[in-house]
Amino acid sequence: MSEAQQNSESSGWEYKGGTLHCNGLSLEELRLRLRQKYGHLGSPVFVYSAGILRENVMKYRDALQPLESRGMLSYSLKANSNPYLITELRDAGVAAATTVSGNEILMALKCGFLPEEIIFNGNGKQSWEVEMAVNRGVLLNIDSVFDAHRLVSISRRLGSRAKVLLRLNPVISVQTHPYLATALANSKFGIEMEQVEEVLKILSSAKAHGNNVSASNLIELRGVHIHIGSAISEVEAYVEVAKAAAKTLRHIQNNGWPEASTINLGGGLCIAEEIPVIGKDICNGRGPESDINENPKESSDSSTATINPPTPKELVAAVLPYLPEEAVLILEPGRSLVATSGVIMTDIIGVKRNGDKEFIVVDAAMTEVIRPALYGAVHQVAYVTCPHEQETAEFDIVGPVCESGDFILQGCQLHPGSSFVIWTAGAYCSSMSSNYNLRPHVVEVMVTSSKDFKVIRSPQTFDDLVKKYKAQYFSVPSPS
Ligand code: LLP
Repeated sequence: MSEAQQNSESSGWEYKGGTLHCNGLSLEELRLRLRQKYGHLGSPVFVYSAGILRENVMKYRDALQPLESRGMLSYSLKANSNPYLITELRDAGVAAATTVSGNEILMALKCGFLPEEIIFNGNGKQSWEVEMAVNRGVLLNIDSVFDAHRLVSISRRLGSRAKVLLRLNPVISVQTHPYLATALANSKFGIEMEQVEEVLKILSSAKAHGNNVSASNLIELRGVHIHIGSAISEVEAYVEVAKAAAKTLRHIQNNGWPEASTINLGGGLCIAEEIPVIGKDICNGRGPESDINENPKESSDSSTATINPPTPKELVAAVLPYLPEEAVLILEPGRSLVATSGVIMTDIIGVKRNGDKEFIVVDAAMTEVIRPALYGAVHQVAYVTCPHEQETAEFDIVGPVCESGDFILQGCQLHPGSSFVIWTAGAYCSSMSSNYNLRPHVVEVMVTSSKDFKVIRSPQTFDDLVKKYKAQYFSVPSPS
């Protein structure tokens, strides 16, 4: 059991005395302590709850329980690749890591996953990445005809056996933002069904030409993988996926790979837009689930717009009847494991009006939360401390980045009192952060108990940002 597991007293977000607490720790106290420690680099800050991470893992583990050892939960590192968080997830029972780059493989290894517990996926794997994966015994998803050729030639050259799944594109559309759908007819991901035969031939040719390893096992085709997209609210779509996967698995078994038994159904479950907050009534009806979150401007995107997202249990129950009895089922969620565990706490820089628009300018920006600009995604915002004032007005909450697309949440009714938290920032926020406008990557903390937190990523400094540029390019040397 990790330190965080032993120490956390209550998990989740809760208003006490009008102030938001994480696992019992006051966010105002946290804010002060970070300001003392880091000065202006103490805000904005990613705040994660260790308790919520564990609860999210438990939901998947419970869901997969009927499959016993044939059910495997793999975490998609791209959602958040902070090593502390990855280790928390592993300690809580995540069995494998899904990666999409050589560096993600290295990170998974550093966090204690064994090579055989790592899946390497991607439509554009580079030779060094494939070589490393094969050398170490990582499971690879073959994504295309060229990917199959490259894998066979690398395995041959290394004389090493490669364990693989076929990443299929069965053309299943889902209701999500177009950028988040990955199995449309024109998507860049996966092998279209008409090309499966060709890929199988390439893999079979490897059987006949193995040198150091025996001819029959240069490529070990273990099964199939389908990931249809992200922020998916329809369980029915997964039924289609399971049917397509089972059919192709049978085909593979009957065509020279009888031992293939793995079905990886990818990730993709959406999350509720709003995190349940205990004690919202302390805000006298002005808490995060009333005024401030009411009527956020209509978004063109449905990427997170679900009140009751399907649970992992519902997902598994829906697909189970369509899987072969002996099949090993892998689920590899990202968002639904980590999104609700994290918020961004951000201070108000100022309030201004232009035309008939009122703006609250905060110190977080699209550099920490790109999702509203990129997908029109909705991240709700709540007070750190509920204001005493009753009157509210409509504001757009925006960041300081030099882009009109730099908004956090538009059209919210609130009183611009203290600091805010931006909800559901545990997934695809830190990992998609950028240094645009030379803004540093911000501090990240994990709340481990009602009294304590760990800094799990120090804030970048100006020196961190410039140290990769050659000193002679600067006219003014750094003070020594
Ligand atoms: N498996 C594969 C093969 C994937 O490509 C992905 C995500 C996952 C699993 C995990 O999906 P999740 O459970 O997190 O939905 N940046 C976007 C999300 C891109 C997801 C890419 N692939 C966002 O901010 O919404």
